[in-house]
Amino acid sequence: MTFQSIQEAMNKGSGTVHLRGWVYRIRTSKKLAFLVLRDSTNIIQCVIEQNTITPQEWDLATTLQIEASVQLTGTIKEDKRAPTGYEIHVNTIELIGESDQYPIQKDQSPEWLLDNRHLWLRSRHMVAIMKVRATVMDAFREYYQKKEYTEFTPPILQPTQCEGGSTLFPVKYYDDEVYLTQTGQLYSEAMIFALEKIFLISPTFRAEKSKTSRHLSEFWMAEMEAAWMNLDELCDDVEQLLTHIVARVLKDHKKELTILGRDTTVLEKIVPPFPRMTYKEALALLKEKEGLDIPFGKDLRTIEENKLSHYFDKPLIITHYPKEIMAFYKPADPKNPSTALCLDVIAPEEYGEIIGGSQRDLDVEQMKQALRHDGEDPKNYSWYFDLRKYGSVPHSGHGMGVERVVAWICKLDNIKDAIPFPRTIKRFTP
Ligand code: 4AD
Ligand code: MG
Repeated sequence: MTFQSIQEAMNKGSGTVHLRGWVYRIRTSKKLAFLVLRDSTNIIQCVIEQNTITPQEWDLATTLQIEASVQLTGTIKEDKRAPTGYEIHVNTIELIGESDQYPIQKDQSPEWLLDNRHLWLRSRHMVAIMKVRATVMDAFREYYQKKEYTEFTPPILQPTQCEGGSTLFPVKYYDDEVYLTQTGQLYSEAMIFALEKIFLISPTFRAEKSKTSRHLSEFWMAEMEAAWMNLDELCDDVEQLLTHIVARVLKDHKKELTILGRDTTVLEKIVPPFPRMTYKEALALLKEKEGLDIPFGKDLRTIEENKLSHYFDKPLIITHYPKEIMAFYKPADPKNPSTALCLDVIAPEEYGEIIGGSQRDLDVEQMKQALRHDGEDPKNYSWYFDLRKYGSVPHSGHGMGVERVVAWICKLDNIKDAIPFPRTIKRFTP
């Protein structure tokens, strides 16, 4: 027997179908049982009539628990009253795996659902998000592959920091100590001297000590690095990349966005050109429109990023942050050395920073000074400085937080729902 998915059966629309899946809902009356079956593609109402099946099958139908797995054969037809517009009249049904009383019910707290994430993943809500997530990563790959970038895999265990020592996760490494990667960047920079244009999608770790709806301790970063690229070209690149990702999700996931209650007209506006401004211009806007007086040299916090996002319905590209507060590899702008040749992309609708990137400093002395300022020993970066010694070239790169982008596109309340099994300061189970 060949089985169809629920979606394939609905596309067929009539005749006999063979399905297998899980009991999503079940309600029985005297002679009828209404079973809503789910699989990875959709849900569908199945009607079981006592008169047309065996007594054993009827017994089964009346004792089925939520999430029991079954296979069935029946006739499908359109029915406007059914939850997804089709109904199956069941001819035979067979139990594959019984289910105990399913612990997930309506109106349970977010924490309880997180404790039971291994089961809550089966919900239509989570299934929809996980499909969008897969497409976000696929669209990232597709975008760079079309531009002939080569995929690269960085080491996860690394000897140094790259994005500040305070968020490092140390790991005992035989008799030494190493760290879980904060970014593949330093290794990407080594790789571009071989492959010129590369991208990577990798797990990333940050010991974020505060509890926010935007920070995970383990997340996936999608990064790129390109030889010969400058900041202006990097701005164009992130604009095209985000446009491509949103367009792919809109093309492939109308159904999922509907399940999530996402207003797609908001996403349809994500087309070039994106607004661009410098950090200084952002401060001026916050002062003029919000009465916020932020001194030059202070990083933008969540509250400021949120306020800025209210003025635009597209991602906002902010460049030229103060050099002083930037990571050691972000170069000073020769035209204005107190600022760095870098960018952050701030998502609309208060979703915060989704991409961070920069040109890379080519001045080893300047980088050593910045490292010392951060309490780092430049000796530990000698291999990295070699890259500036043997045929250095201007280059740039960025990193996109996969979960931040998924949270924004799906309009999630919390970034934790953008990853299957979230890890935060408070949570490392299940
Ligand atoms: O801005 P970040 O720290 O940039 C880098 O790590 C660069 N080395 C990337 C590069 O140029 N190759 O991080 C990049 C993005 C942020 O913009 C944000 O979207 C996401 O990663 N991110 C987080 N997402 C979830 N939880 C966290 N704790 C995150 N920290 C950063
Ligand atoms: Mg950043």
